[in-house]
Amino acid sequence: MSELKRYYEDHYWAPFTQMGDLSEEEPLVVVSGDGATVTSDRGKTYIDVHGGLWLANVGYGRGRIADAVYEQMKQLSWFPSFDGMANEAALRLAQRLVSMADRENMNRVFFSSGGSEAIETALKMTRQYWRLLGKQGKYKVISRNRAYHGVSMGALSATGIADNRKHFEPLVPGFRHIQPPYCYRCPYDLDIESCGLTCAKELERTLLFEDPETVAAFIGEPVMGAGGMLVPPDGYWQEIQRICRKYDILLIADEVVTAFGRTGEMFGSRHWDLVPDIMVFAKALTSGYQPLGATLVNEKIFSAYLGKYGEGREFSHGTTYAGHPAACAAAWTNLDIIEEEGLVEEARAKGDYLLEKLRGLMEIPVVGDVDGLGLMARLELVADAENKTPFPAEQRSGSRVSEELLGYNIILRPLGDTLTFSPPLVIEYGQIDRIVDALAKILGGWM
Ligand SMILES: Cc1ncc(COP(=O)(O)O)c(C=O)c1O
Repeated sequence: MSELKRYYEDHYWAPFTQMGDLSEEEPLVVVSGDGATVTSDRGKTYIDVHGGLWLANVGYGRGRIADAVYEQMKQLSWFPSFDGMANEAALRLAQRLVSMADRENMNRVFFSSGGSEAIETALKMTRQYWRLLGKQGKYKVISRNRAYHGVSMGALSATGIADNRKHFEPLVPGFRHIQPPYCYRCPYDLDIESCGLTCAKELERTLLFEDPETVAAFIGEPVMGAGGMLVPPDGYWQEIQRICRKYDILLIADEVVTAFGRTGEMFGSRHWDLVPDIMVFAKALTSGYQPLGATLVNEKIFSAYLGKYGEGREFSHGTTYAGHPAACAAAWTNLDIIEEEGLVEEARAKGDYLLEKLRGLMEIPVVGDVDGLGLMARLELVADAENKTPFPAEQRSGSRVSEELLGYNIILRPLGDTLTFSPPLVIEYGQIDRIVDALAKILGGWM
């Protein structure tokens, strides 16, 4: 047993991991990265199909970002942002993010240290906003089944994944969930041609049932990530936005996965011309080089918080490391790279290529569904494609594929029986070919 494996078994406790049932190959300890690949402590180099956790947009090993962080740390390691103080890197980054999100009318940036924190910020901001307007009763949040918004208690309450929630009940009161646009397995057993966007219209029905005067916001990922990489049908988000506006409900776009090029647009919201009230960023804001989250809001929300000292209108929230200068410096250079190398356009072109290649696998009977947007794609495995019959859970089909892929030097993370694709946007076409060829061999061998 390697020294590192022993340390893992001795005293380490990993997130979302059954520590009592590790396989021979686990843990996969990664010691370095370059482009779309990472190298393990055993000296094996893998293509990282997952992009870390949907975030390594500019790829691994960018010395430029490391240098920017180093320079920032030498100049100023950290300083508080509370009570009228600030650091230069955070101010500059806020300015840049707002100008990037001009089409969405974003106006202010509130920093945090990651996705859950940035979502928590959005949820608390929403509640206080309505109180500031004198609408104490407007506090509920509508979200969707299968949504993933994080693990802190507010973010978890918005999350719609039962396994994540069930051990921590009771959660925060006031969260409601509607069905997601999972067209391959429509929750209403409807057909996309004739469904009339029932899942979006459900928002209106739920609002009327709850009473819009009690509902503060709707929150959603433009393309669902952890819930199965679900691309909504055209019209879905327009309908959600229309309903939010009609009933004066804030629209929160959780762009933690979809922002900064992942879907082939700078922000996922742009595919459907969404103009949310709040946008939440993390992950690819720094491509993982530093922990950082950002909650952006429009002028309408921000101005409600303005008043005189002592009136108590300020946003009563904030964490020590929010807007850490080293993280903001990493974000700055990361954004430079995304823009200079045209990575948004790259994601669109490579995403189309990947999707076309994956669609080529649909003749294999265990491939039920293939879909995607930019470099965010799904392949759902089924026992019988004609009837969409799932594999029995105990067969662990998704996990088996990912285990076999390790033999091809490929890391891919399954979500149940859905294989997910979200590689660094710098992935090479030849690497995409290698991934799809390996899948063809593995899945072809299952027949
Ligand atoms: C859409 C979405 N929102 C929020 C989060 C939470 O982010 P974090 O893990 O940085 O807390 C995630 C994490 O995967 C996510 O996918």
